[in-house]
Amino acid sequence: MRIVLTYGTYDLLHIGHINLLRRAKELGDYLIVGLSTDEFNKIKGKKAYHNFDERKKLLEAIKYVDLIIEENSWEDKRKHIKEFNVDALVMGSDWEGKFDDLSDLCEITYLPRTEGISTTKIKRDLKYS
Ligand code: CTP
Repeated sequence: MRIVLTYGTYDLLHIGHINLLRRAKELGDYLIVGLSTDEFNKIKGKKAYHNFDERKKLLEAIKYVDLIIEENSWEDKRKHIKEFNVDALVMGSDWEGKFDDLSDLCEITYLPRTEGISTTKIKRDLKYS
């Protein structure tokens, strides 16, 4: 069984998220999502509209997602890859090259983002609508 791992905040779910999750799942048999906790979002300078439990429930309802784990720190990726015997880490192209140091542990793939949509854009568009 080929295990794929990806990360993100997944706030205000949108088509870019769904496309990413679908393509990540297509790269293996079992998809794990490391979901950023509210505390880790603070460290990243992000503030989600939905709290962790709500974002987790939304992701659980997506058929491509097999398991959701907490992402609490930048160091978690290395730890999770080993713990879950991950074959491929899949990240959006906004992270291109940033996690290449983990290639000693598993395959690293950066998938192109869906154009024209992001959580930030949704917030901005609603503010001015
Ligand atoms: N993603 C994508 N295409 C988009 C938006 C996001 O492929 N248009 C991917 C990201 O590359 C990441 C995952 O979806 O792998 C989760 O992204 P996240 O940062 O949670 O969502 P964004 O919409 O990028 O959020 P923000 O605007 O707050 O950065």
